[in-house]
Amino acid sequence: MTPDLMRAGAARRAAYEARMAAKRAAEGPPRGGFGRPLERLEPVFTQGVALYVEDLTVSFDGFKALNSLSLTVNAGELRCIIGPNGAGKTTMMDCITGKTRPDSGHLTFGSNIDLLRLNEPEIATAGIGRKFQKPTVYERLTVHDNLAMSLAGPRSVRANLFGHQNGAERDRLDELLTLIELKDSAWREAGLLSHGQKQWLEIGMLLAQDPKLLLLDEPVAGMTDEETERTAQLFLSLEGQHSLVVVEHDMKFVGELAGTHRKVTVLHEGSVLAEGKLADVQADERVVEVYLGR
Ligand SMILES: Nc1ncnc2c1ncn2[C@@H]1O[C@H](COP(=O)(O)OP(=O)(O)O)[C@@H](O)[C@H]1O
Ligand SMILES: [Mg+2]
Repeated sequence: MTPDLMRAGAARRAAYEARMAAKRAAEGPPRGGFGRPLERLEPVFTQGVALYVEDLTVSFDGFKALNSLSLTVNAGELRCIIGPNGAGKTTMMDCITGKTRPDSGHLTFGSNIDLLRLNEPEIATAGIGRKFQKPTVYERLTVHDNLAMSLAGPRSVRANLFGHQNGAERDRLDELLTLIELKDSAWREAGLLSHGQKQWLEIGMLLAQDPKLLLLDEPVAGMTDEETERTAQLFLSLEGQHSLVVVEHDMKFVGELAGTHRKVTVLHEGSVLAEGKLADVQADERVVEVYLGR
């Protein structure tokens, strides 16, 4: 992308955010669950941390899927999490998104939001988006309309489906379509996309809600090599503006994301086995033993 295009994109984004802020101000404070104002759900990242997982334990019939798991993800960080099947990776995401309640421990979003006090919709509203392994797009709607619905949130879904986006929303849709490389397929039914394109569309739908933290569980499973490579580039381009936690088995993909300097976390039996630069965890005897093999 040229600097001019990037500046134009940034300007559009700023204009969009200003309009949305003005709209929110005009509407007065939105109400959250149980009558709580949603303002209370704004995460604060001034400490530089997006997510604290502390001593998290989850038992299923006495079996500890998470066993005193602790880790910290920084604001804007792109963190890969690897580990054998059954290590607890998905269970950790289930806890962060409120799907599973841990037996004990703490989960804090930013420095201020106690996630264990929120339900699933509140956690999503606070800015945590999750992508499951299987794409969940509306197959009969066009790519454009899938994105338009996510951008709108439930309140104005009808308006958005009937093409009533305002200028800022149209700009943002355009930006998202470009980002996920589906501009040429904007008016195709989502059901006609390739598996990889459906995955990108779902990522676009997540981004439309402007999450601060994105959780991606095995996002490249079933993708071609080329799609995998492009997904790595997409995630790398999101670093900084969003915090990303990516669970993946594809070590080539993990290598592309981690590069030489990013931190990788290895989970095993519900806790952190190793954490550090990819080259270091790959050289760790215990990691080789339980996961990477000899
Ligand atoms: N709802 C559940 N009920 C019982 N056991 C579960 C449930 N969810 C996960 N587990 C078990 O918890 C362990 C961790 O699972 P999971 O978090 O899916 O691992 P991973 O994503 O790392 O492969 C596994 O042994 C799994 O069988
Ligand atoms: Mg899993």
